[in-house]
Amino acid sequence: MELLLTLLLLCSLHSGVLSCPDGCQCSEPRVHCSGLPDFPSAVPSSTSTLYLSQCSFDSLKPEDLAGFSDALNIFVIKDSGVREVRPDTFDSTPNVAALAFTGTEIQDLPEALFQNLQKLNSLSLKSSKLSVLRPQWFSPLTNLSQLDLSRNLFTSVPVETFHPLTQVQYISLSANNISHLSVETFKGLSEMRILRLNKNMLQELPLGVFDDLVNLEELSLHDNLITHLHHDLFSKTVRLQKLFLSHNRLTTLPQGIFLNLPLLSQISLYENQLESLVPGLFGPMALQELWLYDNKLSRLEDDTFRNLTQLRLLVLSRNHISHVSGGAFRGLEQLGEVSLHTNLLTTLQAGTFQGLPSLVNISLEHNFISSLPSGFLQGLSHLGQIDLSNNSFPNLPKESLDALGAAEEVLLQQNPWRCDKDIVPLRDWLKLHPSKVNQTLVLCESPLSLSGEMVTAQTDDILIPLSSTEEPVVTSTEKRRKPNTPPTKRTTESPVMKTTPTSEQEEVTSSGQDQNTMVSGDTSIILIVVAVVCTAVIITVIVSCICWRRNKSGKGEIGRGNKNSVL
Ligand SMILES: *[C@@H]1O[C@H](CO)[C@@H](O)[C@H](O)[C@H]1NC(C)=O
Ligand SMILES: *[C@@H]1O[C@H](CO)[C@@H](O)[C@H](O)[C@H]1NC(C)=O
Ligand SMILES: *[C@@H]1O[C@H](CO)[C@@H](O)[C@H](O)[C@H]1NC(C)=O
Ligand SMILES: *[C@@H]1O[C@H](CO)[C@@H](O)[C@H](O)[C@H]1NC(C)=O
Ligand SMILES: *[C@@H]1O[C@H](CO)[C@@H](O)[C@H](O)[C@H]1NC(C)=O
Ligand SMILES: *[C@@H]1O[C@H](CO)[C@@H](O)[C@H](O)[C@H]1NC(C)=O
Repeated sequence: MELLLTLLLLCSLHSGVLSCPDGCQCSEPRVHCSGLPDFPSAVPSSTSTLYLSQCSFDSLKPEDLAGFSDALNIFVIKDSGVREVRPDTFDSTPNVAALAFTGTEIQDLPEALFQNLQKLNSLSLKSSKLSVLRPQWFSPLTNLSQLDLSRNLFTSVPVETFHPLTQVQYISLSANNISHLSVETFKGLSEMRILRLNKNMLQELPLGVFDDLVNLEELSLHDNLITHLHHDLFSKTVRLQKLFLSHNRLTTLPQGIFLNLPLLSQISLYENQLESLVPGLFGPMALQELWLYDNKLSRLEDDTFRNLTQLRLLVLSRNHISHVSGGAFRGLEQLGEVSLHTNLLTTLQAGTFQGLPSLVNISLEHNFISSLPSGFLQGLSHLGQIDLSNNSFPNLPKESLDALGAAEEVLLQQNPWRCDKDIVPLRDWLKLHPSKVNQTLVLCESPLSLSGEMVTAQTDDILIPLSSTEEPVVTSTEKRRKPNTPPTKRTTESPVMKTTPTSEQEEVTSSGQDQNTMVSGDTSIILIVVAVVCTAVIITVIVSCICWRRNKSGKGEIGRGNKNSVL
């Protein structure tokens, strides 16, 4: 760095510049100064860029720029204590193309300050203390393309302020205190690409206010107090690509409001008070993400998003949704992730996620769901993660578990798992799919005696009290082996015969000991035979299990490398 500066200095000396002001770095034709108590004197006359930061002089005068006024092209004062810019300061600097006072103490500027700056292309007055927008400032700036007035104290915009800026492409008024716009505020600004009005006090937008902005690509209206939007407000801004409306007070969106925005690819509507969305809101558009969290939506109706065929992410979390209609997500062919967490769902309709071939992640955590419809997740071939944690499931029947098998990862923690016989399908499924679920987090909540214990640690003799030998826990195991067995057949079988296949299902956890508790004198001979058979079966199970695990860990290595492989 030192060396570079020395070299630069040598170079500038060589090219005839005799000195660089104290506290400045000169790299002809640029001069950067920092921390100066006064405006630098003896700035080289060839200076075209002067950049001053953290300087403490109070005012800027015409004399300050006299030595290099003709060459000056870019002039920046940043984070400095300057309070005043005297009239005529820029009268003899006709070549200034970019001018910035940012982070200053300036409260007002002379009306005619910029009168000779016809070449001004970019003007920034951001982060100062300006409170009155003077229309005369901008009247000579017919070639201005960028205007940044953000972070000041403006409360209103005189209607004629921007009318001379026929070439302007960017205006930011964000972070002021503007409460009202006229229908003519942006009249004639057909070159405008980006308009920032966020962080103000706007409550309503007059119909027609954006009608002349036919080339507008980005409109920021977030962080205002807007309560409603007219359905024709965006009807002329057909080139809009980004529209930010979050953090307002919108309660409804009128039908048709986003119907004619074919290029729209980003919209934010989160943190409003939207109570419903009507079909006919969104026309065909390039939207990829739709953020609707922190609203008051209670229902999602069929076809609401039907035209959003390019949507990849739909965020509906933190609403009051209690009903999602079966066809609510119809048409979302590209949807990769849907977030419905922290709502009031108690159930889902069958087919809700059908016809969404690209869906990977579904978040449903923090709801009140206690069961899943049959056919849930049917037809989803790339399912990655489904989050069902913090819901109201006491258990999951085999059908639901079969459906969840389509996912690579299932989150099941913080549910009120009831560890009785009905938990057996889940327990067995968890053991069969250790890679899908973090088993250490799936804990019994009831009965009290088992509260906090892992579901996978529960053995049959705990889940199925001895007295209830006719309970169908074992038959559910039977069912898995012979799906077509009619239920009547199961209850006739002896308990011993039933438990045998269970121990097979259970891999090695029970090691045959559980069965011994059932021994009674009468059946001892049969039991000896059974025990021999059992031992043989168990040994077979152990051996095959070891082999299976080896295979599996082999697959696991591949699985880690390839997210789509389903173990
Ligand atoms: C106006 O600005 C453009 C760049 O946006 C520049 O090329 C052109 O020379 C400027 N015209 C005048 C008259 O300064
Ligand atoms: C913004 O304007 C409101 C009145 O419209 C006023 O009460 C408030 O103090 C202003 N805030 C600032 C930071 O000027
Ligand atoms: C889809 O867009 C068309 C306009 O092209 C509109 O008529 C229709 O109502 C929209 N459909 C939905 C379900 O919003
Ligand atoms: C699914 O979630 C995972 C993990 O959070 C993430 O890496 C991935 O990008 C998500 N996929 C889609 C399509 O959203
Ligand atoms: C579980 O969900 C409820 C309801 O949405 C929520 O109030 C609670 O904070 C959640 N609990 C945790 C630990 O996230
Ligand atoms: C399972 O969850 C526990 C507790 O949060 C954590 O310590 C452990 O790393 C997790 N295991 C896996 C395989 O993610």
